[in-house]
Formats: sequence, structure tokens, C-alpha cells
Amino acid sequence: MALWGGRFTQAADKRFKDFNDSLRFDYRLAEQDIEGSIGWSKALVKVNVLTQEEQQQLEQALNELLIEVRSNPQAILQDEAEDIHSWVESKLIDKVGNLGKKLHTGRSRNDQVALDIKMWCKQRVLELQTSIRNLQCHLVQTAENTQDAVMPGYTHLQRAQPITFAHWCMAYVEMFDRDYTRLTDAHKRMNTCPLGSGALAGTAYAVDRETLARDLGFAFATRNSLDSVSDRDHIVELLSAASLSMAHLSRFAEDMIIFNSGEANFVELSDRVTSGSSLMPQKKNPDACELIRGKAGRVMGALTAMLMTLKGLPLAYNKDMQEDKEGIFDALDTWQDCVDMATFVLDELKVNVERTRESALKGYSNATELADYLVAKGVPFRDSHHIVGETVVYAIEKGKGLEDLTIPEFRQFSEVVGDDVYDILSLQSCLNKRCAKGGVSPLRVAEAIKEAKQRFNL
Ligand code: ARG
Repeated sequence: MALWGGRFTQAADKRFKDFNDSLRFDYRLAEQDIEGSIGWSKALVKVNVLTQEEQQQLEQALNELLIEVRSNPQAILQDEAEDIHSWVESKLIDKVGNLGKKLHTGRSRNDQVALDIKMWCKQRVLELQTSIRNLQCHLVQTAENTQDAVMPGYTHLQRAQPITFAHWCMAYVEMFDRDYTRLTDAHKRMNTCPLGSGALAGTAYAVDRETLARDLGFAFATRNSLDSVSDRDHIVELLSAASLSMAHLSRFAEDMIIFNSGEANFVELSDRVTSGSSLMPQKKNPDACELIRGKAGRVMGALTAMLMTLKGLPLAYNKDMQEDKEGIFDALDTWQDCVDMATFVLDELKVNVERTRESALKGYSNATELADYLVAKGVPFRDSHHIVGETVVYAIEKGKGLEDLTIPEFRQFSEVVGDDVYDILSLQSCLNKRCAKGGVSPLRVAEAIKEAKQRFNL
């Protein structure tokens, strides 16, 4: 029998029930629903709906249920209940009889589901932050080991200026840092408890909602009952944080795929995160990275779907909002899996230092250095840019690098070039000169690594 049977004379059609029921996915909120119910039972004592003894009996039964649920969450799926809230209530009634029927006094599934999903989100934020921090630590460690690995840095996927593999790693540490703090911000805003808002207008029992909020681990109670049961901002915010982080992960994956390609051959991904081809024996495919890149689309889709679902909804609760769960569950699972997989990809990554250096030497990535050299000799930057452009065209024609040109060759383009030019064209000089904060100079990169290690207690 459904919770709301009294008003009905006919049972719901099976087809409708299958369409309407949410237990097959919201069973994941069982722990939150039970904890919220314990909190509510305590609040009901203070307004004389339950005696102290009744509350204790309910709490004990709910705790038993919690243990059962933790040992086998999937068992819930065998039940016919409409949703997790009905399931918990019916199991409670099985355990304590009529007393169990008192628990729902003054509460609605609307404030209940709002509470459960918020509690679930808060928990997930902490788990995601742990995973993100772990990924950052792996990146910092990889950076520490690859400070000498000079490689080309790109813009437009054209070799631009030399960088180090370590500097590349530290760029991703920054991206994931913003993802981490975005979660902290979202957590702060979602830390308000909607329980005690009733169906929409507030509960008719004078419960102390601030104490209830604290009991359930929230900083405050929400301020408006209509908003409390209608608000899914925390889900949108998490989906948005997930989407942006997936964009970062996807760029990481794409860089890896390019670095691992036969053309670049900068890195070798471990056998443990690659797969072979069923036909071509020579292949070692970067599937882990490709899947991270691919899954970004699915997470971003969940954000769009949620926004579309919410955008035209009148206040307060509407059943449309049940659609929040599958999207957020899947998106956060996917996000966490991808963060963990990216960490794993770094685990046995080999950087081919000879190859990255060889590539950094090609592509005239020291051209900016030559321009700066001319500037130092008194040539205005615009002119020096032009002179170097012509010099590069000449060098390409001759099949030489800039550092391979002779002084007479340089002098065809500018009289001011002297023997001291060769030093500044070296990779080391290119790196060393980028010594302002945030630059690729090995000193700066070492500082950044040290600072990150302190921050992450590494
Ligand atoms: N399964 C519902 C959901 O996920 C719970 C709330 C039901 N409320 C209601 N008034 N039917 O949104």
C-alpha cells in the first residue's frame, strides 16, 4: 500500500507505478534518510509528539536499519516501495509497529527529499575533494621528477617556447585547485538544513529548526520554507563544478593523448592504463585518457539537463524535481572516477626526456629569444620581430635551427648580432630568462613545487 492510500479507491496502474517510482535510484539516499529521520524524531520530542521512550525506541530501530542498509544497500531494490522515504518508513513500521507511523508527523517527503539530497551532496563534496587533492599530489610528485625534462610549449598546437614537463604538471595543479575551492564554496552555500519546512508552508509543529539543523551537521536552518523545498541550486552548482573540472580533466587527457602519440612520443603510458588493438599488434591505445575526455560530455549533459528541468518550474515542489537524482549521481560518480583515473595515469608515466628535448630544439621555439637579444642591442621590438621572422624563413630554407646559423648568416638580417648570440639561443637560457613569478625558469618551478608540497603536506 502506498503512503497516500486513503484518498484512493483504485491501485495505481503497474505502468504508472514503474514510471513514477524512484526507489531504483534513490535507494542511494537510504543512509541520509535514516539519519534525517533520527534527527526528526528528536525534534518531535521537544514538541511533545513523541515521548522520550518512544524516540529512543525509534532511534534504536532506525540505527538497526542503518546497519542493515550499510551491509547490503542493494537489498533495498527488491522492495516494491515507491521511493526511499516510503521504504524507510515501512521498514520502521515493520520493526516497531504503530509507533513507526508517528514519525512522519509534521514532515513531508518534500522537505525530507530536500534534506536527503543535500546531505548526500555534502558528503560527496568531501570525497571529491580527497580525490582531487590526491591527483594534485601526484601531479606535484611528477613535476618534482621532471624538472629537467625540457619540452616544447605550444600555442595553436604550434611549437611556441620551451617549457618543462614539470611546469606543465604544475599548470594542472592550479586548475584542480580552483576545482577544489569551488567545491568548498558550494559546500558553504549548501550547508543549510531544509527539514522542518513541511510540504511547502512550514511545519505546523513549533520545532526548533536551528537545533535540528545542528543535529544533522548543518551550519544553519534554511530561512524560507517555500524556497527550502524548491531549491536544487546545490545540485546545479555541483554539476557546474563537475563540468568545469571535467573540462580540465579532458584537456589533461587530450594533452596526454598528444604526448603519447607516435608523432610526439614524449611520454609512454603504462600498460596498466592502455589497451591493445584486436587487429593491429603494434598498437597501445590511450583508452583511459580517451574515456576521461569522452565522459566530459556526459557530465556537461547532466548540467544542461538539470537546468532545463528547473527553469520553468513554478514554486514549490513539482515531481519534475525527482529528475535531479540520476543526473547528479551519475555525474559525480563519473567525475570522481575520472579524477581517480587521471591519478592512476600519472602513476607509471614515463617521460622520454631525450625526445622532448629534441623536439624543443626544433620548431624555432627560441625565436623570441633572438628578438629579445636584438632588443637588448638597441633594436626596437617591432623591428626585431620582423628581422627574426626573416631569419627564421632563411633558416627553414637551409634546414637549420637558429642556433646553427653562422654569424655572417645572422648579419644578413641584422648587423648587431655577435658571438654572444649562441648562449641566449640555448634551451637553458630560454628557460632561465622566464624568471618572473609563474614563469618556467627552473628556479621558479622549483619554488612552485616546494610551495605546493608545503600546502598539501607532502
Ligand atoms: N521521490 C520524490 C522525489 O525524488 C520524493 C518527493 C515526493 N514528494 C511528493 N510530493 N510526491 O522528488
